[in-house]
Amino acid sequence: MIRLAVLVSGRGSNLQAIMDSIERGELSAKIEVVVSDKPGAFALERAKKHGIGSQVVELSKFKDKVEYEKAILKILKAKKVDLVCLAGYMKIVGPTLLKAYRGRMMNIHPALLPAFPGLHVQKKALDHGVKVSGCTVHFVDDGTDTGPIIAQAAVPVLEHDTEEALSERILEQEHKIYVQAIRLFSEGRLNIEGRRVRIR
Ligand code: GRF
Repeated sequence: MIRLAVLVSGRGSNLQAIMDSIERGELSAKIEVVVSDKPGAFALERAKKHGIGSQVVELSKFKDKVEYEKAILKILKAKKVDLVCLAGYMKIVGPTLLKAYRGRMMNIHPALLPAFPGLHVQKKALDHGVKVSGCTVHFVDDGTDTGPIIAQAAVPVLEHDTEEALSERILEQEHKIYVQAIRLFSEGRLNIEGRRVRIR
């Protein structure tokens, strides 16, 4: 059973999907801690409802990002976390956290990377006129949404799609592929070779 930490900033629907799949016995993992950089994040309520401990670590309470990430790292180390899952965590991971968890930190992004990294992703996809978008789970590296890709799911863009409608359909797929990616990691089946993630 692997020990997870989930880093969040907001709604927490991906956190919910992970908690649900653990409870259904589909994922051999335990969420040791949920860490939020936002005190009011709804994800914190979701964690509480499922009896999972959480901590709020706010950047504004620290001298700089290094000290902020050291505080998070201390929590992760104390909980002996094997895998860190970013789930709607709205900060770019700095070298302090990355150094400790490179190859053991995943993120979910609501587009088919390398298309549309960063923010306002569905708007970018609609403005660009793509016919297919989707979502990506990737290992975190020092770029923004640039790390080795573990899993992707395609979602068609419909004729009269809005940002909200497209986001919602993508989100359904996010919940599936994030759990799949964590399962593969927990089974020791992911090998990073340069940019490629080989699945054994
Ligand atoms: C998701 O769309 C995820 O891909 C992106 O942020 C959103 C988080 O949603 N990184 P939630 O907080 O998991 O509901």
